[in-house]
Amino acid sequence: MKRKAIKGNSIDVDLGQLTVKQKLFCLSRALYTAYGGARGGGKTHAVRWKAAAGALRYDGIRILIVRRTYPELQSNHIEPILRLVPPELASYNGTLHTMTFVNGSVIKFGHYSGNSSETEYQGQEYDWIFMDEATQFTEREFRFLGSLLRGVNKIPKRFYLTCNPGGVGHRWVKRLFINRSFITDRANPEENENPNDYSFIPATVEDNTYLMEASPAYVQMLSSLPENIRRAHRYGDWDALAGTYFPEFNAARHVIKPFQIPAHWMRYRAFDYGLDMLACLWFAQDESGRTYMYRELKLPNRIVSDAAKMILSYTLSDERIGITFAPPDMWNRQKDSGKTMAELFMTSGVPIVRADSNRVQGWLQVKEALALRQDGRPALLFFSTCTETVRDLEAILADDSNPNDCATEPHEVTHTVDALRYYCVSRTVRTDGAAEKPKNRDDELDDYDAFMTGDEVMRGYLEY
Ligand SMILES: Nc1ncnc2c1ncn2[C@@H]1O[C@H](COP(=O)(O)OP(=O)(O)OP(=O)(O)O)[C@@H](O)[C@H]1O
Ligand SMILES: [Mg+2]
Repeated sequence: MKRKAIKGNSIDVDLGQLTVKQKLFCLSRALYTAYGGARGGGKTHAVRWKAAAGALRYDGIRILIVRRTYPELQSNHIEPILRLVPPELASYNGTLHTMTFVNGSVIKFGHYSGNSSETEYQGQEYDWIFMDEATQFTEREFRFLGSLLRGVNKIPKRFYLTCNPGGVGHRWVKRLFINRSFITDRANPEENENPNDYSFIPATVEDNTYLMEASPAYVQMLSSLPENIRRAHRYGDWDALAGTYFPEFNAARHVIKPFQIPAHWMRYRAFDYGLDMLACLWFAQDESGRTYMYRELKLPNRIVSDAAKMILSYTLSDERIGITFAPPDMWNRQKDSGKTMAELFMTSGVPIVRADSNRVQGWLQVKEALALRQDGRPALLFFSTCTETVRDLEAILADDSNPNDCATEPHEVTHTVDALRYYCVSRTVRTDGAAEKPKNRDDELDDYDAFMTGDEVMRGYLEY
């Protein structure tokens, strides 16, 4: 392709040839185009090509390429694109991670490492966004980045994704692009998902003739992977790694915009505690028994008194918490002090009630709560601010050896989900949609005593 450089000179830019699938990806006219499946199909290469070609073709286009971390961007995108585009046509600012072209186009290389990144992107506008390895992102992150797709110019707005099965985003990518199971019944029709907006281009490693010729051993390596990983990586099989434990959880249905919770709704907390991590969740229940999880706290390395202090500081002064549910091991006596952690929490101002520890029963209650009620909405909803819990619910896998239980690895995604289980197994989240007379606070405190496990606990503890 010929492009004008400074002072009107023309420069030949050779971006190289594309495979048939890569061409389909680059030519897609859908708002969201995902290119995915098997490893090594040439997805990342197609992203680099399309971004560079777009920057040269459309004067003034704003392009964002996102990955989870900068090192991934550096080796997969920044360095190769700098090699692809002659230095006369663009310069790179390593501090801003931005490549600026002489025609006014910009490619921003952005990392997105979680909530804190959101503020960085707030207010920015892009014409094209590329999300390489989209299954490493949550649906919420995808939608947030999608909201940056705007700008008052004639350049068509597009979101390009590449993806391999597996990862925290496996579910939403599979739902939108493989199963094409769209949400079309929202109260506000503008929020519905339009099937025409989503296009999927399947990749196989055989598509990538360049790789097949240069590294035939790569295919052999893929073929010798363990069965389920081989099915996913070699053949791009989206069912091979679909072992997520809560397939009923769907961020598009279960996550809602925060709202002001009426003061008379009963409120609860539930936490999971270990020295490695404190995960505390706040819940409010409406008159019909529907529960809203409205706040979360996840903090590592806290001793009990500190953990209690943090739970209290996250609870507003006018917030009356009916019960705080906690894991049964809080009632084990410490060898050195002879006290239980339950007593320590109590003396630190957080009286707790023992939750049932049966995991399988508990998970069934969580699943029950996630199910839709007669009115078409789930019995348990999450404020969109509870990002850690949502992410953990999407990421937690079924246990390979016991499909009724969920895996305890990766350990970091288990804490919020355990806390959620303690809440669901202790409270009845009404799933039938029938209105329930709200309990008054005296009844709640009776419940509280009934829940207490007096045998292990000092009398003073019951006096709360
Ligand atoms: N059209 C092409 N021309 C030349 N080389 C290519 C082309 N397409 C892909 N390649 C090369 O093939 C190799 C694999 O491609 P790439 O990294 O894009 O695959 P991928 O699908 O992103 O893989 P993964 O799933 O592992 O992320 C890379 O070395 C890449 O440079
Ligand atoms: Mg890649």
